[in-house]
Parts: sequence; structure tokens; C-alpha cells
Amino acid sequence: QSISIIGVPMDLGQNRRGVDMGPSAIRYAGIIERLENLKIHIADLDDVPVSRPDTRKEVKDGHLLNLQQVADSNWKLAEMVDQEITKNRFPLVLGGDHSIAIGSLAGAAKHNDNLGVIWYDAHGDLNTVDTSPSGNIHGMPLAVSLGIGEEKLTSIFGYTPKVKPENIVIIGARSLDPGEKELIRDKGITVYSMHEIDRLGMSQVMNNTISYLREQTDGVHLSLDLDGLDPEEAPGVGTPVIGGLTYRESHLAMEMLAEADILTSAEFVEVNPILDDQNKTATMAVGLMGSLFGEKLK
Ligand code: ARG
Ligand code: MN
Ligand code: MN
Ligand code: MN
Repeated sequence: QSISIIGVPMDLGQNRRGVDMGPSAIRYAGIIERLENLKIHIADLDDVPVSRPDTRKEVKDGHLLNLQQVADSNWKLAEMVDQEITKNRFPLVLGGDHSIAIGSLAGAAKHNDNLGVIWYDAHGDLNTVDTSPSGNIHGMPLAVSLGIGEEKLTSIFGYTPKVKPENIVIIGARSLDPGEKELIRDKGITVYSMHEIDRLGMSQVMNNTISYLREQTDGVHLSLDLDGLDPEEAPGVGTPVIGGLTYRESHLAMEMLAEADILTSAEFVEVNPILDDQNKTATMAVGLMGSLFGEKLK
């Protein structure tokens, strides 16, 4: 196995400073060494270019914050993800705010007619220009990948949609806007909210998710937003929501994914070291990636 790390210092999809430093914080927390210890071949491809927050102007395209710049960086990310998969390497994307899932999915879905998506997140990120309360594109990437919303985003990498609603599983949701709930209902998207996780337990939730996606899809992308975890354990995120997934539930989920061996790409997003406590959240992300790539199995 060969993993290609791609950093995306993206903070244009939301309006808090610091999440652009996420990739640095995760590298500083030791991701390369951690994975090399598993005898996996790692190539760090450095960062996708994103304009520097200190020198740019904030632009509003109607309701959408920084639309053109978010679109440009995601197009570049899609090309890199596509290239790595073509070379038979596993793309591991480090964010950056969650708007980068647009590019990751655009690159990954080129290789699969039925790409599965596990969306591990407190949020659905299923807003559109019309339903978004914030205008922040990091609240929209899953809708965009379904082909819903702003054309400059849905058309990234020259095709749409990237994923089908029946191939998506959302895990950890506890903050959904009214428009997102409606879209989930209309499209029949599978959601294991905190309610279902409390009732069934993470073990059952992951068993269901894995057997469902194994049957239904021909590859699976994991999109893990660190705010899926509880803010007590992962405080360095821009949109924390109380009542989240624990360290133990999250490691169990990663270990079960490692064992199932169904993933074809992954991303870890929303790590914001400025809002963090001693790089705890990046350290959490690195630990989770250790489990995801098989620490328990080796
Ligand atoms: N639903 C809210 C919005 O649309 C919050 C989205 C948070 N997204 C995230 N990737 N952290 O603005
Ligand atoms: Mn507005
Ligand atoms: Mn989130
Ligand atoms: Mn998210």
C-alpha cells in the first residue's frame, strides 16, 4: 500500500481564522512517522495552492463567501486526487475547511460509477445557496457533490453529479439545518445521527454501514470532519457542537474500517490549531489515522 498525503490549507469556505494551518498542525503532530511505523509507503505531496489569508480580500458572490477561490483550489485538488488514484496510490487529504471535500470527491469519483461516501460529521454539509444560513461553502460540499447548488461548484472537474444519494452514509449528525433535513428526506440519504448511535452503539452502526456500502458501492471515500467528535475531545474546530462522538467510538469506527478494507480515499478536515488546546485536535486526527491504516492489525 502506498499513501499520498495532500494538504489543503483552505479557510475560504468559512469565516474563522486558523483552519488553513490544519495541514501543518497534523504534520507537526506526526502523521508521517505514525504511518511509516506501519510499514506503509508515504509520499507527502505538500499543499495545494490556496491564496494566503493575510494578503487577500474577502469576496462575496451574492450569498456565497469566496466562491471563485474555493472553486479554483478544489479544481486543483481534484486533479491531484485523480492523479494519485491513477498511479494506484491512496489519497489522504488533510484540511483545511470541509469545502475541500468538493475537490476530493471530484477526483475520487472519476474512478468509480458508484463511489460510496462515509460522512463523519456533526453536520450534514448539505446546504445550498438558498438554504445556507451562513453563505459558508464548508456547509455545502455534500450537496454540491450530489449535483445540487451553485453551478461553479457542481461543475468542478467537468462532470456532475459525483455521488448518488443512496451511496452516502452520514455518521454523527446532530446539527442539521431545515433545508438539509428536507434534502435528506427527499433523497433518502442514510443518516446515523447521535440518536441512532446512542441506541444501536457504534459497533452496530459501523457493521451496518460497512455491509451496506460493500454491497452497494465500488469504492468508498471517508470524509471525517473533526467536529464529529465531541468538542471536549476535539476542541480545535470552527463549528463545535456539544454531544459528539467520543475518542473510543471514533477509534472503534476507524478500526472497523481498517478491518473491512473498503476505503479507497480519505480526508480529515476542520482542524484549527488557533482554536485548539496544545494541538490536541491534530493529535486526535493523527491517532485516528493510525487506527484507520491498521495499527491494531499490525
Ligand atoms: N450548517 C452550518 C452552515 O451551513 C454549519 C456548517 C458546518 N460545516 C462544517 N464543515 N463544519 O453554515
Ligand atoms: Mn447572507
Ligand atoms: Mn462539521
Ligand atoms: Mn463538515
